[in-house]
Amino acid sequence: MHGVFGLRGRLSDKSDQTEIIHMKNIAVLVSGNGTNLQKIMDAVKSGALKACLTLVISDQEKAFALKRARKAGVRNILLDPKEFLTREDFERKLVELLKREKIDLVVLAGFMRILSPYFVKQFKNRIVNIHPALLPAFKGARAIKDAWQYGVRVTGVTVHLVDEKVDHGPIVAQEALEIREGESVEVLERKIHKLEHRIYPAAIRRLLSGAYQVKGRRVIFLSR
Ligand code: GRF
Repeated sequence: MHGVFGLRGRLSDKSDQTEIIHMKNIAVLVSGNGTNLQKIMDAVKSGALKACLTLVISDQEKAFALKRARKAGVRNILLDPKEFLTREDFERKLVELLKREKIDLVVLAGFMRILSPYFVKQFKNRIVNIHPALLPAFKGARAIKDAWQYGVRVTGVTVHLVDEKVDHGPIVAQEALEIREGESVEVLERKIHKLEHRIYPAAIRRLLSGAYQVKGRRVIFLSR
């Protein structure tokens, strides 16, 4: 069975009419710098992304992303895995927090933990991740360096739904960029991040703006 996602909107009652507002709850999970989080927060603030950024959760106390959330006035929580006996306990707490806030879409933005099948099942086809390479090439935490070292002429960015396997779920958006001759890995990193910052808010907007269906490896958008 395939689910259809995104049909929920919230109803706001105006005196003479009922207007459907497709404002949905998102949570962003982070571990590091949080430049993608920043772009998502900026897009929400400017209205380019019609979502309610309800919660930012970090598994790292020192994550600069937490400071960004604080500065933007977004509710933020540190969930330190060291305070839990097992990964299951940690994830159970994570699920509890997300469900309590009625999160529609869980956005991973540099969240450096592999989520278990238990977690994935709780938010089936409602977890999205960004990966700094053209999947299925260069999976893993060193994707930019790996692509550069391999000598590929083209790499890019992938936004995908999260399934039980790492860097594997159905692709939501993908964009390529060229690696020029003599280009350093630092320059490539900058280009990749710039691309990420453009395509992640746009892909999230697409996921939230209407319904989508997941059929096998394909994400099918049911509305424009
Ligand atoms: C990004 O390169 C993203 O593709 C990867 O982790 C990095 C996070 O960067 N999953 P930032 O914390 O958003 O700056």
